[in-house]
Amino acid sequence: MTESSNGNEKLPPGPKGRRFSNLWKRFRDTAGLFEELQREYGDLVFYELPSRKCCAIYDADLIREVLVVQQSSFVKTDVGKSVMRCPTLLTADGNEHRRRRKLVQPCFGKKNVEAFAGIVIKKTSALQNGWRNGQTIDMKKELHRLALNIATEAFFGEEMQVAPGLVEKMLDALNWKMKSSFLPFGKLISHLPLPPNVRARRAIAAMDEVISHVIRKAHNETKEGTNVISLLVHAKDEEGIEASFTDEEVREDAYILLAAGHETCTNALAWCLSQILRNPAVRNRLEQEVDDVVGGRLLTVEDYREFPYARAVFNETLRLMPPIHYVGRTATKDCVIGDYLIPKGTVVQPVLRLLHMNETHFPQAREFKPERWLEEPPADRPKHAYLPFGSGSRICIGWEFAIIQGILILASLAQRWRLEAVSRQHAPEVNSMALYVYRSNFPVTLGERQGGRVSPVVQ
Ligand code: HEM
Repeated sequence: MTESSNGNEKLPPGPKGRRFSNLWKRFRDTAGLFEELQREYGDLVFYELPSRKCCAIYDADLIREVLVVQQSSFVKTDVGKSVMRCPTLLTADGNEHRRRRKLVQPCFGKKNVEAFAGIVIKKTSALQNGWRNGQTIDMKKELHRLALNIATEAFFGEEMQVAPGLVEKMLDALNWKMKSSFLPFGKLISHLPLPPNVRARRAIAAMDEVISHVIRKAHNETKEGTNVISLLVHAKDEEGIEASFTDEEVREDAYILLAAGHETCTNALAWCLSQILRNPAVRNRLEQEVDDVVGGRLLTVEDYREFPYARAVFNETLRLMPPIHYVGRTATKDCVIGDYLIPKGTVVQPVLRLLHMNETHFPQAREFKPERWLEEPPADRPKHAYLPFGSGSRICIGWEFAIIQGILILASLAQRWRLEAVSRQHAPEVNSMALYVYRSNFPVTLGERQGGRVSPVVQ
């Protein structure tokens, strides 16, 4: 694999033309379009949309070329850049991205992640205290609520009163702004007095006020607090100069972290529970592990290391249903990937979900088999065969927190409840923003575990 062009390389194989039908398929079923392209053309496929040229990549070594080896030849594809009021960790590139990454990374260091994990245990326990034996609940809604409750405390601190529903309204506002930015005349549409624009403006103004208050409070603290906003306010650059972030940057990065962590974690857990419901043997083994480790006592943060099977179940879920099913990069110059030319301006799309379906690296790849994570990986499986959190300098900043959170929530639920599916459907909804989401409605009936004592809220 070579980085520089000798001028003789060809474009990768792919459909000629078909721009509008590709666009239509992409809007209707992005994941289906990626499957079709791979089936017809292989692991590197060049295709066109009306406004851009794209290249879908499915092979571990080729994806490594884009995300790691040649990452300096690519920038993040412009999703969200126009939505935020200043560059953010998610949308900045080059030196600006490096600076932000260095400042935000310590927020997700071991000490802070363990403090956030304590919030996960407390909020998961509190949520379950409102559930009753035999009750049918919409699990997707409950997981959504749980993620919001965790985020509200992790970001704003325990004592901050945030109006109920405000964080949700702000996330809906960002979502709408992101979606409308994809529409033709998106910029114009965002300035019209349409009800979703008015709602979005109000939600963001209300949230700005809350964040400004937390930022002011953090400035007055003699040492950094434990909430994300305080950690960002006190983040230091290499020379140790405080306030390396302006208040505006803290606010926008806080929004990005909230948005990036929320839907992904909710969907990962929804997919995970849907698989457990379909596989009684997995459910039994998970319950056994939790009973052996915790019994009836309170779950603690340290316990997450004692659940290899729960971790395997979570890993396998992220393999089969990665909540971000592809990532996008734009080539800033002509590059060569796998002996093919990728012209400047091409949007390159490592397709993580189908990368994970490689039969050589994951035998019976379309089956849910958590046990594969308890065995030694095949010697020839490349490191980049499994990338639910991406790779390179833009690897998910919250990945450790996401895994610990996933394991602890699974353990906490398995300790107290056996879930029964009301419906066996679990059709994914895949949206054009690369999210692979569990359908919105997920009814389950709760059965209180025999022998598993109900644990009180951790204070
Ligand atoms: C299961 C849960 C999660 C999954 C599957 C996931 C997946 C990903 C992936 C694939 C990327 C790379 C995107 C790219 O290369 O373009 C990413 C980036 C990112 N994630 Fe996550 N994520 C999860 C949870 C979280 C959490 C909990 C947070 C924060 C609280 C978070 C914050 C971010 C941020 C800020 C980025 C951008 C990093 C950068 O560009 O430097 N994610 N995530």
